[in-house]
Amino acid sequence: MASKIDLSGRNAVVTGGAQGIGRAIVERLSESGAAVAIWDRDGKLAADAAAELGGSAIAVGCDVMRLTEIEAARDTTVTALGRIDILVNNAGIYRAAATLDITEEHWDAIMTINAKAVFFATQAVLPTMIAAKHGNIISLASMAGKVGSKTNLPYNASKAAVVSMTKSIALAHAADGIRANCVCPGFVETDMWNMVARDQSALLGMSPEEFTSQREKSVPLGRMERPEDVANVIGFLASSKSGYMTGQALSVDGGLVMHG
Ligand SMILES: NC(=O)c1ccc[n+]([C@@H]2O[C@H](COP(=O)([O-])OP(=O)(O)OC[C@H]3O[C@@H](n4cnc5c(N)ncnc54)[C@H](O)[C@@H]3O)[C@@H](O)[C@H]2O)c1
Repeated sequence: MASKIDLSGRNAVVTGGAQGIGRAIVERLSESGAAVAIWDRDGKLAADAAAELGGSAIAVGCDVMRLTEIEAARDTTVTALGRIDILVNNAGIYRAAATLDITEEHWDAIMTINAKAVFFATQAVLPTMIAAKHGNIISLASMAGKVGSKTNLPYNASKAAVVSMTKSIALAHAADGIRANCVCPGFVETDMWNMVARDQSALLGMSPEEFTSQREKSVPLGRMERPEDVANVIGFLASSKSGYMTGQALSVDGGLVMHG
């Protein structure tokens, strides 16, 4: 078996791939030889990211909260690339609120993208994977899906839903040659983290800088996480090197969560 991760001949979709962790995933998969379709609601950022990668990526404007846009993005991708071998469900949002301040709108906004869109993007690409008798679905959960939180109840519930859906998809489609896993990052320095630090620090009565520094000190490996830390593990999960893994929720968090 080749020693390097080799995704040549594979076609991947990365939702929310225009920036942050998604952008690092797009780069990682593309470096390993995959053709990548970047599905992002920010079509301009996605087009810029694809242009920087030259011929190995295409940009597809897609708001994953809308089923019709998911289906259109799937059709555009299959027409352009021929098949979808790997789906990375990365697009997600974060919001904080104390339990008594969580509104129905907050709950629905978080659940629609972080949980519902993960399911329907998966459902949209499954027929092409089943027909090809192979497929690989990797979703972004979070350490938040494994622990509780005083100030992010809907976010944590949405990420626990990703862990749960990963197990059900893995079980239901193992016989079709399809694997499903998810990753659970910790404190990753992206635009989303800036929002986490701003909102949580306000709730906790400290500055965003104090909040980030406090969180960084709590990481056993002693530093904040980089998008590349997550992307490297997703490169592994997307490859045959992880071929005997399915239904797993892999922590990639510097040691923050050390239980199952
Ligand atoms: N940053 C962290 O600390 C952290 C930790 C654990 C898990 N995660 C998860 O990782 C994933 C990526 O997070 P990030 O920090 O890179 O976020 P980010 O906000 O930096 O980037 C999110 C990307 O998703 C796109 N996007 C947002 N809504 C969309 C929609 N409706 N349709 C299509 N695209 C959409 C944005 O345009 C952007 O390109 C999320 O699922 C997040 O919950 C992040």
